[in-house]
Amino acid sequence: MYFIANWKMFGALNSLNSLYKVIKFSKNFKKRKLIKIIYCPPNTLINQMFIKFKNSKIEVGAQNCHEFDRPGPFTGSVNSMMLRNVGAKYVIIGHSENRKKGETNKLINLKIKSALKSGLKIIFCIGETIQEKRKKITNQILNNQIKIGLNKIKDKKNIIIAYEPVWSIGTGIIPKPRELFETIKFIKKKKNCKVLYGGSVNPKNLDNFRSINVIDGFLVGGASQNPKKFIDIIKKTYN
Ligand code: PGA
Repeated sequence: MYFIANWKMFGALNSLNSLYKVIKFSKNFKKRKLIKIIYCPPNTLINQMFIKFKNSKIEVGAQNCHEFDRPGPFTGSVNSMMLRNVGAKYVIIGHSENRKKGETNKLINLKIKSALKSGLKIIFCIGETIQEKRKKITNQILNNQIKIGLNKIKDKKNIIIAYEPVWSIGTGIIPKPRELFETIKFIKKKKNCKVLYGGSVNPKNLDNFRSINVIDGFLVGGASQNPKKFIDIIKKTYN
């Protein structure tokens, strides 16, 4: 199971001080061989985190990248090679917060290709909005996101899909277990790879996900900034 922390635009150097708790947990947890912990901080913290996690199995990822893998005159941008250079092994691509700002499925496809070329593994986010859910076109939307986002990409083993219904991110609202089960099964049928769930996951609602045996892990936003909550999510998954 994957447990991925998405810090979004939160965190400063002193936020790294409490990570020793997660490092300690990752070394002592009885089921440690069954889990993979990945932290995706803002780019400003990637290298420091990478150094901090050096003697552990925890890995670091970024939250987005530019679509070109070479250097270039793109003010404010960072490409996948640069992320790799400072210690990132993964990159989140297609997060709804970036899709909202205009990232299209086509652009996401270019980003994924470029990141794979640089040797990064991809955490590919897909998910429907509340309007799309109400119109009952969730599967159609997901199918489109997968089809275009992963167009001409054969490399399955370096891609993890994170299903994140947009209406669930940061809202405290989570899908019904049956619905989630069906949706994840649908995604796996379209693309046979690991599928995580993301959206308001916290230690208190984790019981709702435990019975859904098709979930391969969680992408955690808000709750991942608190090491204790993040550890509790992992512990409760195996309780
Ligand atoms: P959340 O965010 O856990 O705060 O809902 C999840 C995400 O956006 O990846």
